[in-house]
Amino acid sequence: MLAVTLTLFLAVGSQVLAEPLKFLDCGSKDGSILEVNVTPCPTEPCLLHKGVSYSVNVTFSSKIDSQGSQAKVYGEMLRVDIPFPLEESDGCKSGIKCPIQKGHSYSYLNKLPVKSEYPSVKLVVKWELYDDQEGLLFCWKIPNKINNQNKQWVGGYLAVTQGKVS
Ligand SMILES: *[C@@H]1O[C@H](CO)[C@@H](O)[C@H](O)[C@H]1NC(C)=O
Repeated sequence: MLAVTLTLFLAVGSQVLAEPLKFLDCGSKDGSILEVNVTPCPTEPCLLHKGVSYSVNVTFSSKIDSQGSQAKVYGEMLRVDIPFPLEESDGCKSGIKCPIQKGHSYSYLNKLPVKSEYPSVKLVVKWELYDDQEGLLFCWKIPNKINNQNKQWVGGYLAVTQGKVS
């Protein structure tokens, strides 16, 4: 039976499993990303399988005070952002002790459910966290292998292939 198989490759090169994820900063202005971790990651590059929920841990420091925070996740394809549904978009319910205080560090924790109905395209995963002033506490993404000029990156994209389900 033919089925759509969705895998998400996260670039981590040939480093050890505990190594934080390599990411591109996509405009963190009101905060600085210290570390991004995605688990489980049994193989490298990370293969995220359809039907599995992955844990995301983004550690960042804030440059501002903010009562709240809201997360948005996108699949970026040909410069178009396709929203990924998050079960919990409130950052204050995702490991961050609010209000957020300037100069403090926080670990944002959430799940990335890789669902069956995701589209059959290659795309770049982009994760944003907004503060009260609509500024970005963080924005990180995994660059698309195809567009990647930097050989340090192994790749990071959602690859969907048609294949047989065993
Ligand atoms: C998230 O990552 C930070 C930095 O590595 C670590 O200190 C913290 O314990 C992690 N939190 C969880 C719940 O894994």
